[in-house]
Amino acid sequence: MSPKTVWFTGLSGSGKTTLATLLSESLQAQGKRTSFVDGDTLRNGLCADLGFSREDRSENLRRAAWLCRHINQSGLICIAAFISPFAQDRELVRSIIGSSNFFEIYLSTPLSVCEARDVKGLYRQARSGKILNFTGVSDIYEVPQEPDMIIDTASVDTKTAIELINNKIH
Ligand code: ADX
Repeated sequence: MSPKTVWFTGLSGSGKTTLATLLSESLQAQGKRTSFVDGDTLRNGLCADLGFSREDRSENLRRAAWLCRHINQSGLICIAAFISPFAQDRELVRSIIGSSNFFEIYLSTPLSVCEARDVKGLYRQARSGKILNFTGVSDIYEVPQEPDMIIDTASVDTKTAIELINNKIH
């Protein structure tokens, strides 16, 4: 298999980081070399100058895509986890990485479940107006029309999800 980028998109709390981490571990256990690129991590470094406006999210994802492309060209499978809420930005990402290398997984976990989890307490802050432009609350998420896979982590357990992904990416 030529190195691909497996791109997780979905709301905050939909399970992107959890599944990306487990997928990375699973592939490594199979002897594959992987690199994990996470939105939260990038936003603390490479993209620390960016916020959450339409333009900044776009620039965030453009940089992420070039990083994924570089990782693939270095011979590693790239696993990426970004909300990536706008279809136009996801298309740009696909074109930078290369369509044949790009495997898009949409985590369709309902907003109500993501909000109930509220792992980082951000939904609460978004509802009280302390955080603006919060995806799902005060900013849009455009549902992918033709993702390679759709997983709802409210109804599929993580072990099953990783098995399903493993079967599909090989
Ligand atoms: S993206 O929209 O540009 O793809 P990205 O995945 O990098 O977003 O970062 C999302 C993370 O930033 C969330 O998991 C959350 O921890 C944090 N965050 C802070 N403010 C916001 C906001 N307004 N909307 C969404 N996520 C936010």
